[in-house]
Amino acid sequence: MKTTMIKTALTIAALGLTSQAFAYETGDWIVRVGATNVAPDDSSGNVFVGGNDLGIGVNVDSNTQLGLNFAYFVTPKWNVELLAATPFSHDIGLNTVGALGSTKHLPPSLTANYYLADSDAKFQPYVGAGLNYTIFFDEDFTGANDSAGFKDLDLDASFGITAQAGFDYMIDSKWHVNASVRWIDIDTDATFTLNGAPGSVDVEIDPFVYTLSVGYKF
Ligand code: NI
Repeated sequence: MKTTMIKTALTIAALGLTSQAFAYETGDWIVRVGATNVAPDDSSGNVFVGGNDLGIGVNVDSNTQLGLNFAYFVTPKWNVELLAATPFSHDIGLNTVGALGSTKHLPPSLTANYYLADSDAKFQPYVGAGLNYTIFFDEDFTGANDSAGFKDLDLDASFGITAQAGFDYMIDSKWHVNASVRWIDIDTDATFTLNGAPGSVDVEIDPFVYTLSVGYKF
């Protein structure tokens, strides 16, 4: 009986210690490393060349890169998080016609996230919102299109809002597994020339961004 009581007391004490260890505290830093997939939910206006509407739009494919996350807890329930990644590379297609070109981009995003669960929970879901800045670079037409006279592809940088939901699943006091899905409002104006005539097309990329990562708390 006495042994059982001591065992129970020790178990409760152990649970208490363990759950204490899961809680985030003001001043904590998290670094997460994982895979981030950018899946455009794209729509586009028609392509214009020399003032003529070609009656056709463009599309953008998805891409996965190394995702990096840095978060700082300003209170035990709120953190500020920066999403970074290695450059995403996307093929751009001309609707129903085929490959047009490609571009790379970096979509750094800053979000404020609110943790919904009791801070001592193993499963810690959160929701967040913030701002995104996306820069495009290495914009290129395919070799065939370049030979056909398409030149000087340029995609404007985009500034917009982002929202996300995710969770940390605590493994121990330092490590966790994280999954998140975010939506980013990314709109760009692509400009180019075709045999010297100016061309343009407005593209809403508006991707869903999925991240699966491992995190460490400092
Ligand atoms: Ni948009």
